[in-house]
Amino acid sequence: SERESLYLVSEFANTYFQKILHKTDQGKSIGLSYFKERGFTDETIKKFDLGYSLDEWQAFTDEALKQGYNIDYLEKTGLTIVKEDKRFDRFKGRVMFPIKSMSGRVLGYGGRILTSDKKAAKYVNSPESDIYHKSNVLYGIYHAKQSIAKEDNCFLVEGYTDVIQFHQTGITNVVSSSGTALTSEQIRLINRLTKNITVLFDGDAAGMRASLRGIDLILEQGMNVKVCTFPEGEDPDSFARQNTLEELAAYLSQNSKDFIQFKASVLFEESKNDPIKKADTVRDIVNSISKIPDHIKKEIYIQECARIMDISEEVLFSTLAQINKKDS
Ligand code: CTP
Ligand code: MN
Ligand code: MN
Ligand code: MN
Ligand code: MN
Repeated sequence: SERESLYLVSEFANTYFQKILHKTDQGKSIGLSYFKERGFTDETIKKFDLGYSLDEWQAFTDEALKQGYNIDYLEKTGLTIVKEDKRFDRFKGRVMFPIKSMSGRVLGYGGRILTSDKKAAKYVNSPESDIYHKSNVLYGIYHAKQSIAKEDNCFLVEGYTDVIQFHQTGITNVVSSSGTALTSEQIRLINRLTKNITVLFDGDAAGMRASLRGIDLILEQGMNVKVCTFPEGEDPDSFARQNTLEELAAYLSQNSKDFIQFKASVLFEESKNDPIKKADTVRDIVNSISKIPDHIKKEIYIQECARIMDISEEVLFSTLAQINKKDS
């Protein structure tokens, strides 16, 4: 079938990018040194099938065609860009992160630039295709699924390197939405393995505010959500790199907070001196609570938020009733 052909092209590219990384001068001196500088071991590089794409216009495409792969399938996976009669490699001079399905098939790639050229995108990603639907995929799920079930918890991080560095440090129940807004389909993948998610935010306030919304989708599925923030300027990768497994595990357990309590306290801090803003944040937090299917949990959260936000339970319950009426 056509999908099977796309999978075969993707698998070929996976082997190819790894061969370039490990066996060519450019791959070794640029790609491999980059990964080493980030503290990735050989074992880690192999485990995640990390690779490198040559800094040439069509090195990959030429090799794939030589090996007999069809140009239509190369184009449909996005690995080759076809413009009139010209063919270009999508990934050029980037370190490569293959993105795998739950069962380990390669669906697409993220490619990171090595220079700090501010004009070029830091990451280039495969486009949507018949085998790669971004909204249904979590980076790292293939390597994490067993320990997510065993630990009965899933850490959700922002990026590829966060997943990889956690593994190397010894925490393997971790996946990434890879910079896109979290979707219900992605949460469903986790829901099959555990009811507990801990969302780990990069230590930059902007990202956190934006992500607070997506978390309501986790509540809607009746799952338990905790959140954990990292010190200013750190992300899970940089933090894990500077700490031992024991230190990392201790940090996570000491700093993971119930999501609703966390959101209520963040919003309260921001709005406590401004009555109009406070009214908005009350609606915001009650809106999150309204997503929780379990009525007993809902009631407990209302009581706790009343305390945290210094407002009466009655007001919160009547706000909840209003929201329920609007939604029905
Ligand atoms: N991302 C992307 N395109 C970009 C920037 C980010 O697709 N131009 C995605 C990547 O999946 C990335 C994630 O968003 O891993 C998180 O972004 P960011 O925190 O900026 O990158 P890091 O993962 O921390 O990458 P690095 O440590 O290499 O800078
Ligand atoms: Mn970030
Ligand atoms: Mn980051
Ligand atoms: Mn990072
Ligand atoms: Mn470490």
